[in-house]
Amino acid sequence: MRHENIEKNIGLMTILTLIVISVGGLVEIVPLFYIDDTVEKVEDVRPFTPLEQRGRDIYVSEGCYLCHSQQVRPFRDEQIRYGHYSLAAESKYSHPFQWGSKRTGPDLARVGGKYSNAWHVQHLIAPRSVVPESVMPNYPHLMEDELETGQLRDRMHALKTVGVPYTEEKGDLYRKNVERWGKQVAERLHIPNAKQSLLAEAKQGNFDGDPSRLTEMDALVAYLQVLGTMVDFDEYSEPKQGRARGF
Ligand code: HEC
Repeated sequence: MRHENIEKNIGLMTILTLIVISVGGLVEIVPLFYIDDTVEKVEDVRPFTPLEQRGRDIYVSEGCYLCHSQQVRPFRDEQIRYGHYSLAAESKYSHPFQWGSKRTGPDLARVGGKYSNAWHVQHLIAPRSVVPESVMPNYPHLMEDELETGQLRDRMHALKTVGVPYTEEKGDLYRKNVERWGKQVAERLHIPNAKQSLLAEAKQGNFDGDPSRLTEMDALVAYLQVLGTMVDFDEYSEPKQGRARGF
């Protein structure tokens, strides 16, 4: 009855409990000292441009995450279906991240470039017109609602405070952004240029297929088309070899 001896001896019980808790604590705490090695460095993952960021806002406000995750797990079946498993670094500028575990629809972490803009527009307006068995809701209003850009800068300021390297002056951080992602990207991450850059990107990309208007559809499709495209996994073998595809 050794166990009984332990339970009846409060001093021994306390010491043994402390040992067990310490082991548990160490197992949880020690890996944090190596966190920098654990989160792989993929320098090329860039923050969302103002247009993509607005698309992301719409994604969140429409509740797309209720049916779609953005996290490919490191399991064989998932990788066969969706591609390379998600890296932590891919969501580093995604606040709040959209990982999720609810998949009424498929994972969207790698959906960028899978379909044309026109397919997305048609699918979002009336999913069953392209996928007859779909249970996804219709979002025709995205094509009608003009894209709000009023709070664009405030939103970027807020993200800046949590570490997204949007710039306000053309100082060191701006120069670093130019070095990392090129001038065109750095300009788009520059807050004073936000609205101008959003308009230019929407016009250039013509995401909703109607060049005469700037709609919520423009932003949402721009966002969907960038998902999973920042790291070229064909070239990805060592963490440092991640490479951004441009716009
Ligand atoms: C009620 C659940 C539900 C909601 C909410 C929902 N979806 Fe879906 N989605 C689905 C289902 C189911 C599919 C698979 C059938 C299809 O392609 O329509 C799908 C498919 C998709 C696809 C195609 C993915 C692929 O790889 O083929 C995209 C893109 C997509 N949804 C985007 C969105 C966006 C953006 C929103 C928010 C505006 C949204 N969904 C909201 C259920 C949902």
